[in-house]
Amino acid sequence: MRRPSPRTLRGQLTAGLVTLLALACLAVGITTALALRGFLISRLDEQLAASDGRFAASLEHEAERDADNRSDTRGQAEYTFGARLLNGVVTQAAVVDDTSDRPLALTAGDRRTLAGVPVDADAHSIHLSVSPGRYRVMAVRGDDRDILITGLPLHPVEETVHRLVAVEAVLFGAALVATGVAGAVWVRVSLRPLRLVTARAAEVAGLPLASGEIAMPGPLPDTDPRTEVGQVGRAVNHMLGHVEDALVRRQAGEERLRHFAADASHELRTPVANIRGHAELALRHDGVVPSEVRHALERIAVESRRMTRLVDDLLLLARLDAGRPLEHEAVDLTLLILDATDDARAAGPGHHWFLDLPEEPVTVVGDAHRLQQAIGNLLANARTHTPPGTDVTITLTSDRAEVRVDVSDDGPGIPEELQPEIFGRFVRADHARSRSTGSTGLGLAIVHAVITAHGGSVTVRSAPGHTTFRLTLPA
Ligand SMILES: Nc1ncnc2c1ncn2[C@@H]1O[C@H](COP(=O)(O)OP(=O)(O)OP(=O)(O)O)[C@@H](O)[C@H]1O
Ligand SMILES: [Mg+2]
Repeated sequence: MRRPSPRTLRGQLTAGLVTLLALACLAVGITTALALRGFLISRLDEQLAASDGRFAASLEHEAERDADNRSDTRGQAEYTFGARLLNGVVTQAAVVDDTSDRPLALTAGDRRTLAGVPVDADAHSIHLSVSPGRYRVMAVRGDDRDILITGLPLHPVEETVHRLVAVEAVLFGAALVATGVAGAVWVRVSLRPLRLVTARAAEVAGLPLASGEIAMPGPLPDTDPRTEVGQVGRAVNHMLGHVEDALVRRQAGEERLRHFAADASHELRTPVANIRGHAELALRHDGVVPSEVRHALERIAVESRRMTRLVDDLLLLARLDAGRPLEHEAVDLTLLILDATDDARAAGPGHHWFLDLPEEPVTVVGDAHRLQQAIGNLLANARTHTPPGTDVTITLTSDRAEVRVDVSDDGPGIPEELQPEIFGRFVRADHARSRSTGSTGLGLAIVHAVITAHGGSVTVRSAPGHTTFRLTLPA
């Protein structure tokens, strides 16, 4: 199983669970150890009180010792300690050893410790250098102004407490490990619906919602409203529903708009062509025509020509938007560029046209007519939006993956704020001037639509004195 990193919710919950349990175990461990120790020591103290200094008192009566120099150790537990003090000086000290007593060789420190035990018939803990070290002692006053100290070893108490602590440590350690593993699994299982929500949200975030027909993923399963995760899932499902609804409406709206544009431009074609035909026919009239009428007819002919172009451009854009399939033929791009440059040279003799073509002819698969139109639009721009005398260079490069056509000029360039939207429809730098020059702002939109329909891309880099449009097409 993958170890959850503490940054994830899963990791944090597991770590929190284990930490809480560890704290609880620590509290229980400390409390039980202290309680057990207190209980055992109180038992020891009762024993001490019950012994009433008998063993210590027996030390006093040397005469009562038997042949083996043993005092009265009957009924005394092993390691019971006894000492007798006279005027604050230890006169006798012994410890019960194997049911006999053994006189003790006390150090000066031990003697000081014993002399310091308060004579209050209460138990006190002391530390002696002789084995087993720590004692619980009680001092009582004897019959002849002496002090009798009886002690019981603390080590059984400590051993019991240590054993309890060791057992608890093992038990709690095992419980922590088990909780860690089981908790990680449990948290993982509980958060599974959340992972689904995350995955679904990421899936939707990755969709190109801005345009086109979108296939939305289906609703999330298992959305139990009683759980928080289920509520999130329900909310996400609702949101997905709304988004889908909005997308469908938007798609339908776009579709209607496209149809309208296509229908309108298609319908306009015939009347515009008729107007233009009639104007040209009238101009060819042999009789005397007043000059104002001739001028008006000429304007009608010019404007209707312009309108024809506009309507054709709109129709083409509407068709490209609708995803009308393009021709799929081998197009000799080198030849196409040569022709387009010839046309541009003829239309703009004041400009300097330069060609940079590779030795080998470059071909791509696509719609020759549309590609010619795209490149023609770029050349027309380089001609109409720059002053005469401008150098225009067309460069064709290709490698295994792609073919690039660069159209560069050293004209005034495109204003920087216009560059991000330059491929939009009806985008022009100078609206006032463009009316008189007859530019509509559809040229680059068509370039973009044509090249995108070919699976390529078009970019612009422009600064005063240097403008480059680059078409990139898959080879
Ligand atoms: N080479 C260029 N140098 C400077 N400005 C340019 C250049 N190419 C395009 N532009 C600017 O970009 C605008 C949009 O160009 P686009 O070709 O889309 O429209 P248009 O040339 O104005 O009209 P249309 O091509 O439809 O007749 C132009 O109006 C012009 O301001
Ligand atoms: Mg143009």
